[in-house]
Amino acid sequence: MNPTGVPLPAPNDSFILVVDDVPHNIQVVGSILRDAGYEVMPATSGPQALERIRSKVPDLMLLDLMMPGMDGLEVCRRVKALSATDIPIILLTASNETEHLVQAFAAGAVDYVTKPFRAVELLARVRVHLELKQSRDTLHRQSQELHDLNEEKNEVLSIVAHDLRSPLHNILVSAELLGEDPNLQRPPAAEMLGFIHQAADHMLQLVRQLLDVDALEQGRLQMQPGACSLAELVASAVDSHRIKAQAKQQALQFIRPTEPVVALVDPNATLQVVDNLISNAIKYSPPGKDIRVRVTPRQGAVRLEVQDEGPGLTPADHQRLFGKFARLSAKPTGGETSTGLGLSIVKRMAEASQGRVWCESQAGQGATFIVEWPAAAVG
Ligand SMILES: Nc1ncnc2c1ncn2[C@@H]1O[C@H](COP(=O)(O)OP(=O)(O)OP(=O)(O)O)[C@@H](O)[C@H]1O
Ligand SMILES: [Mg+2]
Repeated sequence: MNPTGVPLPAPNDSFILVVDDVPHNIQVVGSILRDAGYEVMPATSGPQALERIRSKVPDLMLLDLMMPGMDGLEVCRRVKALSATDIPIILLTASNETEHLVQAFAAGAVDYVTKPFRAVELLARVRVHLELKQSRDTLHRQSQELHDLNEEKNEVLSIVAHDLRSPLHNILVSAELLGEDPNLQRPPAAEMLGFIHQAADHMLQLVRQLLDVDALEQGRLQMQPGACSLAELVASAVDSHRIKAQAKQQALQFIRPTEPVVALVDPNATLQVVDNLISNAIKYSPPGKDIRVRVTPRQGAVRLEVQDEGPGLTPADHQRLFGKFARLSAKPTGGETSTGLGLSIVKRMAEASQGRVWCESQAGQGATFIVEWPAAAVG
């Protein structure tokens, strides 16, 4: 307990700057604060207060509103303009000055005490604002730490992914070459080589996706938009998926546009978008179903639709659909791998070419993924 009868606040070595042009006021406030265990620094004018702050930033400031020369309002503004500081400012005002309070709050003050004040009230307000500042500082520090940790995690992930790419590629090529050796084309060697090839292929895909996500997030992916015939690009993507669709007895149909459809896009990124959507349609549709891929011109845009007769999406799936690592209710129907990264890459790549992507689907009724990109100017 202190002489005022209030429990002592936890001062935590808090350092308070008291600014008032009347030395007696500084003495009164200073002794109340010192008795409560705070460290106090006095200043008798605005310029002196600013000078003190430059040499040591206080945890809190008690500021007289009416002072000759630079008044409290101006001091408030200048303190708030110092970007590296976040000092709570409590105003000391006379009761006839309350009309200035609105301006003072606008200038950055957080609270006020009316003179003559009671020690208990002053200490209560000081304590609340010191605690608030401490919580703010802690939050700020923790969010900075989280940010740094996240950066570090991304860096580790990208280094690991990057370093795995080349050995995986070597395993893949070696398995392919060994598979051509007639002595190894008999079981069980042929079968094992098939497993090695498949496993390395899956891992390489995952590593490539992780690197793509990283590059997209860091803004490192260079997009080179140009006029691109969407029908030709989609036709080649459809062709490259025919064998997989046939293996699941799915009819993969490409409905060509009747006129040229030219998009203003980066061809590599767009191919990746189309590839991902067709591979999903095949992966999540049961055997024997139809998949239709359509390219159509729109007003100022070009549209791609990939429509399947698979399980579709539940309302909860829709919420998470384009997020990272989103493995949703539909599961692969032919033992394919699923990392949940494909659609997050699709969305970012489509958007990087000023496109947009969405899905129209109801659970049990198939899904249609639609992408629209800007059309290239004709002529
Ligand atoms: N055509 C579809 N029909 C129903 N569900 C789908 C369809 N496409 C995607 N999904 C659901 O969305 C999830 C996320 O798809 P996404 O393409 O991002 O990842 P993935 O296919 O699991 O793995 P990968 O990273 O190899 O593409 C899938 O796991 C699946 O549950
Ligand atoms: Mg996918």
